[in-house]
Amino acid sequence: MHISIIGSGYVGLVTGACFAELGNHVVCADNDIKKIACLKKGLIPIYEPGLDELIKSNLKKKRLNFTSSIADAVNAGEIIFITVGTPSLENGEADLTGIENVARKIAKNMSGYRLIVEKSTVPVETGAWVKQTVSAYAGKKHKFDVASNPEFLREGQAINDFMHPDRIVLGVESKKAAELLTALYKPLKAPILITDVKSAELIKHASNSFLATKISFINAVSQVCDKVGADVSKVALGMGLDGRIGKDFLNAGLGYGGSCFPKDVDAFIAISEKLGYEFDLLTAVRNINSRQREFFLEKIKNTLWIIKGKTIAVLGVSFKPNTDDIRSSAAVDIIRAIQKEGAKVRVYDPKAMKKAAGALNKTVTFCNDAYSASKGSDCLLVLTDWDEFKELDFLKIKKLLKRPVILDGRNIYDPQEMRKLGFTYESIGRKSKD
Ligand code: UGA
Repeated sequence: MHISIIGSGYVGLVTGACFAELGNHVVCADNDIKKIACLKKGLIPIYEPGLDELIKSNLKKKRLNFTSSIADAVNAGEIIFITVGTPSLENGEADLTGIENVARKIAKNMSGYRLIVEKSTVPVETGAWVKQTVSAYAGKKHKFDVASNPEFLREGQAINDFMHPDRIVLGVESKKAAELLTALYKPLKAPILITDVKSAELIKHASNSFLATKISFINAVSQVCDKVGADVSKVALGMGLDGRIGKDFLNAGLGYGGSCFPKDVDAFIAISEKLGYEFDLLTAVRNINSRQREFFLEKIKNTLWIIKGKTIAVLGVSFKPNTDDIRSSAAVDIIRAIQKEGAKVRVYDPKAMKKAAGALNKTVTFCNDAYSASKGSDCLLVLTDWDEFKELDFLKIKKLLKRPVILDGRNIYDPQEMRKLGFTYESIGRKSKD
């Protein structure tokens, strides 16, 4: 099939590369001319495992093309996916300027029937606005449909999530739209839920907000565990073994970050309020999430007493492992807070240091590995749960640190083992009674 993707950011590139890999002819467009020039040469602006290879091989097979002309993209694809950004406005609402711009450009450049599919995360009723906008600018010359096909890709495993999804959600208004999208997704052999556009839009917001709620719930439980001396990871395991609850997304820690959960929870609260419903539950989810970072800072102070003048080693700056993305990263917030208190910070992250260098205060020292970060530091903070941090040589770390103190914001080590090794070890909701 001939497909166009408008917006070559994270979602657009993964979607475009995967559809090309499935044998379709795909054109990815973006108004960032420099980015498109790089992509044409196979230079990928983001780190996502497997994406580089997929883009290069499909470029070679000429199934994937890049353009900075939206008109060319609209011309090339019968199915047009909109994957432009929908950032948060000050009041939490999603900024839909990008979507509106694209809708107008599609309308002006259509040369026949087009199926316009929203894939960016958007508030409910955006589809209706897109339809109205395209009608207004295209006149009655060409027929079109608008559909909603939300993405459920996780950064760091997006290719696998695309190729092996739990479900595919299609919000459609016509038989033709349903048939085209069903045919496009047929090779994935996943359950397909066909529904109306508004329900599909809500499925995305509700799913992300529910996952965020699970995380905040377990983080709230971790606070009680901390106070009573119970172990939140055991509590989560015991809860998660109940099939109705499920064990995923019950890892207590520094709270959720990234470009999706914080923004989507805000947007769901904002759109609900606009529609006349106070989504108090989600307001609590958001508050618990930001308090989790404050609690961790308290722990640092309770362990080190005075932060000013101390050197602190930090492992992990990305918002989660296997990505170089630092947007709304808990690690970034914590580094900024300890710097503000006067600490010198030595950071190591396997992939995100380049992005972190652009965002953090210049006084941060970036190190080549966990050992070099630990050297001469008063304590070690673990802020992202990268696998490689689970296999460190702790006897070496102990020798390198000025004091054997580890504060683990992601609960990746066994408290008893760490104490046996001679560390003062603090984590989240696992204060054992020793
Ligand atoms: C999330 C959703 O999981 C995807 O399904 C969705 O498509 C995507 O948002 C999106 O809307 O585009 P992502 O933001 O890549 O994906 O990352 P997650 O793996 O969901 O993690 C989000 C945050 O929650 C991370 O900061 C992670 O460290 C934190 N987290 C996750 C926890 O603190 N505890 C957990 O148990 C799980």
